[in-house]
Amino acid sequence: MMRVGILTGGGDCQGLNATIRAVGKSLMLNYNGQIIGIEEGFAGLLERKVRELTYTDCSGILALGGTILGSSNTANPFNYKGKDCSAQVVAYYHELGLDSLVIMGGDGTMSIGYELSKLGMNIIGVPKTIDNDLMCTERTFGFETAVSVATEALDRLRTTGHSHKRVMILETMGRYAGWIALHAGIAGGADVILLPEFPYDIDEIVSACRLRASEQQYSIIVVAEGAKPQHGSMVVQQTIADSPDPIRLGGIAENLKSQLEQHLKVEVRATSLGHIQRGGSPTANDRIFATNIGTYAADLIARKHYGQIVVQQQNRLTSVPLQQVANQTKAVTLEDTTLQSALALGINFGCSEL
Ligand code: F6P
Repeated sequence: MMRVGILTGGGDCQGLNATIRAVGKSLMLNYNGQIIGIEEGFAGLLERKVRELTYTDCSGILALGGTILGSSNTANPFNYKGKDCSAQVVAYYHELGLDSLVIMGGDGTMSIGYELSKLGMNIIGVPKTIDNDLMCTERTFGFETAVSVATEALDRLRTTGHSHKRVMILETMGRYAGWIALHAGIAGGADVILLPEFPYDIDEIVSACRLRASEQQYSIIVVAEGAKPQHGSMVVQQTIADSPDPIRLGGIAENLKSQLEQHLKVEVRATSLGHIQRGGSPTANDRIFATNIGTYAADLIARKHYGQIVVQQQNRLTSVPLQQVANQTKAVTLEDTTLQSALALGINFGCSEL
């Protein structure tokens, strides 16, 4: 009998429940595992909110969005309400009789997991984020679903933009990396894509829209929420600096809208997809990927190969040490195949260097 804890940390994402199901069922069926669900991420370990997950709890949740365990992106055992509570968490882990703990999350969750593993906890990481920006893995579940939602939104914006001869702006998530904007932009036929990795110049965007207007009288712009103007370029920069919470940039689509209306003298409309791209059911591919990741994590536990995170490399699942992923971002680079395709198609990135 092995006792395994599971928690989901950080923002939720499609495919978390599919993964909980896969880890849980696989451990119960193949390794006589007992599963302890920790509620609300690390908060559950700090505030003793846990419950046993039965086989029935792990059934019927494959297609369910969100996480049945709840999540929290603020509970950090090393700085909880101003105190280092890591020793308390380690003691509770032992009190619960856990052999290991599966943590599903992004770079922040993995960095906490790495620190806890140094304190003797047996941690297995599962990468999760719609942003697809975790190091060492080609893919994270939730990303494909988020891109599909954003693509559908672009298809809808195109027909109304065309009818009214407008510039349509869609803001996607992506604080530090522009993977969702890039992929949805390609799938949705965007004319301009703005990414955090390549600060933009408003004049470049204006020229791209003018060029487009000489052929088609509407344009589609996709902007990642973390996209930034080049130095001294404009008002948006001030908005970011003035933001009370630097993480919550938001509003970039609205800022671009007013700037473009001034420059282009055409009607511009801005839509921010927000959490719509993070909620709801995972796509079939995300369900399959989440299931594969979950069963792989169960195998790592059975082999006692702790301190690792499951990743996809060269299309195969493998694992790497947690510290390789902790507190890092996988950014879009110039070498990326999809970025190169976009450039070959003349898509504008608002940046003359590209
Ligand atoms: O999961 C990452 C992410 O989707 C970012 O792209 C976004 O900025 C953030 O979550 C927003 O999360 P929340 O509103 O839950 O803090």
